[in-house]
Amino acid sequence: MCGIIGIASNKSVSSNIIQSLKKLEYRGYDSAGIATIVNGNIDEKKCSGRVDNLEKILFKNPTKGVSGIGHVRWATHGIPNTLNAHPHSSEEVSVVHNGIIENSNQLKQDLEKKGYKFKSQTDTEVITFLLTDFLKNLDLVDAINKTLDKLHGSFALGILFKKHKDIVAGARRGSPLAVGYGPKENYLGSDSYALKSMTNKITYLDDGDICLLTNNRIEFYNSKNKKINKEILTLSNDKHTAEKGDYKDFMSKEINEQNITVKTCIKEYIDQIRKGINIYNFPINPKEIQKIILIGCGTAFHSCLTAKYWLEELTSISTEIDIASEFRYRKIKFNKKYLYIFVSQSGETADTFAALDLCKKNNVKTCSIVNVVESSIARNSDFVLPIHAGPEIGVASTKAFIGQMLVLYILAIKLSEVRGEISKSDYEKNIFDLKKLPDLIKETLDQQDKIQIIAKDFLNAKGAMFLGRGLSFPIALEGALKLKELSYLHAEGYPAGEMKHGPLALIEEGLPVVILAPKDRYFEKTISNMQEVIARGGKVILITNENNKIISENVRFTFEIPAANNNLAPFLMTIPLQLLAYHVASLKNCDIDKPRNLAKSVTVE
Ligand code: G6P
Repeated sequence: MCGIIGIASNKSVSSNIIQSLKKLEYRGYDSAGIATIVNGNIDEKKCSGRVDNLEKILFKNPTKGVSGIGHVRWATHGIPNTLNAHPHSSEEVSVVHNGIIENSNQLKQDLEKKGYKFKSQTDTEVITFLLTDFLKNLDLVDAINKTLDKLHGSFALGILFKKHKDIVAGARRGSPLAVGYGPKENYLGSDSYALKSMTNKITYLDDGDICLLTNNRIEFYNSKNKKINKEILTLSNDKHTAEKGDYKDFMSKEINEQNITVKTCIKEYIDQIRKGINIYNFPINPKEIQKIILIGCGTAFHSCLTAKYWLEELTSISTEIDIASEFRYRKIKFNKKYLYIFVSQSGETADTFAALDLCKKNNVKTCSIVNVVESSIARNSDFVLPIHAGPEIGVASTKAFIGQMLVLYILAIKLSEVRGEISKSDYEKNIFDLKKLPDLIKETLDQQDKIQIIAKDFLNAKGAMFLGRGLSFPIALEGALKLKELSYLHAEGYPAGEMKHGPLALIEEGLPVVILAPKDRYFEKTISNMQEVIARGGKVILITNENNKIISENVRFTFEIPAANNNLAPFLMTIPLQLLAYHVASLKNCDIDKPRNLAKSVTVE
């Protein structure tokens, strides 16, 4: 999704803006641009495609401005080309924008009547001309506030002014925006990650806030043009660097480091001395929680679904799951005895944030499970459980999914203990088994060569199917999602028991079907469903921890995961599915870290 950088300095800023834009590349984008003020005029340079292209343009034609804004765009209004790339400038101002202006058509008509000529198809250009218009009679802050008053939708803005060559302005409503404090310059960023290489002192703008940055001063204003003070936060140090190292891409690094991220997370939550789980200060007395509602998007939603099975198995709390974009618009019956849990890797997903906001407005207690502890979702929830996975750069989530499931599983065990719903010995046994998970993951990763062979079967396939029951059902959904995201192959994830009610019609000679069948209480039933697939010509890839030659007959390939506590099977089954998607995409020469059309941080709804 779109990303913003702004730097107010006393030396040329273009190369630092380019470096920071590169940090935002992980979000997924299709064009890039930069603007600075040079010799009293706005100097705007932009291009379609990657930041590398922009860097080449700047190499040929450097820009010397000491304050500037940069942007990576993920197209919403208008195709991804140079004209639609940000910044969008008039004679007076230059604007970069994240988010969507919902009333841009109406505003455009009004501005055209006033004589403004639009060059792009974007919604952003209305902001440029509104600001230009208000600046004729008003000062900077007033003109920005009057412009914001006209806009419907969600946005974060970075702005440069022809007449104030040393100022970078920022404003937000709905989309996140951070300000960074440097020793001799100051920064604006759509997330703190992009600013981390320059500073660890950050302030987050709240909805309606405006900031004005120069190289040695930062001022904040509210929507009434009043100066306000804001808290400065110090960002946490990441234990894991966001470098690729020897890996070909971030995704293979992120898949292969899962034994380590899981170990780190377990260390954070399991008290080694007392052998208990370090989760305290629940926002509601855990004994009084009547229901848990888990909410997320994409992969995070799948981790919510696994948690439903664990919570139902280990506690008496009834559990519902919801997709954030659905939850936020329904007539929800909020209840103070319910705990609303939000799962999000980035902590910035617009729909998940809006669902959280709705809960806050209805005065119910919220908990978030995030990877980015400085994120909007974390900062706005009553209780935060970090997944400690380190920065995840690959757009398709891998180690964060495992991390989300891990924290949710630990939470389920903790709740069963504090509610007195598990025996001491079972509680300790679950923790004992959990500590073996990093080694079990490593053992599974060590078999990755086999997946490379299986991947070839998917190359000429029309599509693929992933089936599982119980805890394997969410993993089937996740396996199908990973394959779609990375290799652009149509894939369906289904509860194996539902096959007869439709999807069985899709099975034909040679269709790859991945069957997830760990030796749990569903095992026999899933194997029966597998036979139905084989009988219709499906090419079965069986993922199981049951070594049984008779069952494996007529199966194209069996991948064995290590035997473990049944509750740990989802983690182990996920690994071969991530690798499968990775290798199919690799064989098809797809862009693994940045799949087409997708974004890492989905900050529009
Ligand atoms: C995007 C990403 C997915 C992610 C989803 C939710 O679609 O590509 O990998 O699962 O957003 O993101 P979140 O940051 O809220 O977990």
